[in-house]
Amino acid sequence: MDNRPIGVFDSGFGGLTVTKGLMSLLPKESIIYFGDTARVPYGTRSKNTIIKYGQQDVNFLISQNVKMIVVACGTVSSVALAHLQKTHDIPIIGVVSSTAKAAATATRNKKVGVIGTKGTINSGSFEDELLRLDGKIETVSRACPLFVPLVENRFATNQAAYLIAEQYLEPLKQRGVDTIILGCTHFPLLKGVISAIMGADTKLIDCAAPTAAKVADVLAKSNALSDQDAVYKFYVSDSADEFTDFAELFLNREIPNADVMQVDIERY
Ligand code: DGL
Repeated sequence: MDNRPIGVFDSGFGGLTVTKGLMSLLPKESIIYFGDTARVPYGTRSKNTIIKYGQQDVNFLISQNVKMIVVACGTVSSVALAHLQKTHDIPIIGVVSSTAKAAATATRNKKVGVIGTKGTINSGSFEDELLRLDGKIETVSRACPLFVPLVENRFATNQAAYLIAEQYLEPLKQRGVDTIILGCTHFPLLKGVISAIMGADTKLIDCAAPTAAKVADVLAKSNALSDQDAVYKFYVSDSADEFTDFAELFLNREIPNADVMQVDIERY
């Protein structure tokens, strides 16, 4: 048993989708969330910058005495996970392998779309994993960089989001994919728009449930599940006020102001 919290980080709000998955599957696990709201987006940055930011995020969470780290960011998971795992002793779990596995299981026609940030799509991480799991799967990938600012600015259900998504998703529609990996943790907030465009039959696989299941498995196998009531703390690198409103709306639970704190991430 290990009652220390799980550390979770993302460039901003997106990782809350994974946090929500963890809260519902593992209600006894305490969580420390870090959203790098001052430096979002990560997905348009160079590999070296993404590694540097990922290292700082991990260092901060380690300073909070977490027992494990969940990289709730498709970009860092795709570009920097191996590096982070190599340079730290603590278990670090990304979102790519478990999510790709869920998509490989879900597809019927073996045509899978992958959408994510530029960094994620350029890395080919989800595509490589899908091919490794099943060499017959065809993938169609599309970077959707404008989705992140739409979500961060709360435009995810707006007509502008619909018009942009229509353009991004056109090649996936043309190729007849029956399953789409939402390879960026911000994208579940756009599920309504994506479904409206692709049709209700297209399966949308996001990172939350597969990643939470993987975390549960790792904790159980290492005998590190918690048996205490969960405590949640949130840290951001930009103003805490805006984060609180959105996070409460999104997680559907109250987050007292005292539980959201600003941190100077450059110090880590
Ligand atoms: N939520 C992120 C991801 O999954 C990052 C978006 C960004 O910072 O560009 O890739």
